[in-house]
Amino acid sequence: MARIVGGLTTSHIPAIGGAIAGKMFEDPYWKPFFDAYPKAREWLDEVRPDVAVVIYNDHGLNFFLDKMPTFAMGAAAEYRNEDEGWGIPTIAPFKGDPRLSWHLIDRLVKDEFDLVTCQEMAVDHGFTVPMQLFWPNYAELDIRTVPLCVNTVQHPVPTPARCFKLGRALGRAIESYPEDLKVVVLGTGGLSHQLDGQRAGFINKEFDLMCMEKIVSDPEALTHYSIHDLVRLAGAQGTELIMWLAMRGALTGTVTKRHGNYHIPISNTGAGLLVLDNAA
Ligand code: DHB
Ligand code: FE
Repeated sequence: MARIVGGLTTSHIPAIGGAIAGKMFEDPYWKPFFDAYPKAREWLDEVRPDVAVVIYNDHGLNFFLDKMPTFAMGAAAEYRNEDEGWGIPTIAPFKGDPRLSWHLIDRLVKDEFDLVTCQEMAVDHGFTVPMQLFWPNYAELDIRTVPLCVNTVQHPVPTPARCFKLGRALGRAIESYPEDLKVVVLGTGGLSHQLDGQRAGFINKEFDLMCMEKIVSDPEALTHYSIHDLVRLAGAQGTELIMWLAMRGALTGTVTKRHGNYHIPISNTGAGLLVLDNAA
């Protein structure tokens, strides 16, 4: 049976893609950010997952305001980056796992999560930046991916409680897959940021650090926030925390934090990283 080896969270700021392309790992602005990731990659070398289920939000690339699914899952053989993000050079496509995708879709729909199913899906920085941070040489590896997209762009945005339940259902769906796969679940985005309007540049370090602690020890405490609470406390784009909650919902074993980092600001955002073990 498939097993969830753990969860990863990271912010997915598009400027990171530019910094990776420019190999700015030692640049004084970027170094404190990039220096946190080798420890996450050490953990990945230890647990060696076969598949990454990547919970992220599309930012107007694959879905635009005319058609905005609340939840959508990829079921393609590969996923190409079509983000305009910072003019980065073309990067290699990401491998899919259509068989696993269809199994997850089937289970999630039976579990009352009515996903949009995408047999073709372009991915943006919400997906590509975390994949590049965790698997810099992903193109040469066997790591396969299943994108799970959550609307954070157009209101109504699903509540933290709903996303946590989605994660619970996702966890059950993964663990009912008959193949002996090792799966890691990623939640990307956040932490606090607001990109436009009167509060552009708003960051709430105290709230971010509280979320990074609670997501490990007491994630249900975070499910009591409304989306408007998150906008107020973490900025208009701070709602991206809901992907972290969906990831955490999928971890139903004994969860321990293996590594964490918080650094501000990267671009306009409080950038958080967590590595969580999920023991049976
Ligand atoms: C930034 C952060 C995001 O999450 C995003 O999607 C776009 C931009 C930023 O901080 O610049
Ligand atoms: Fe974003």
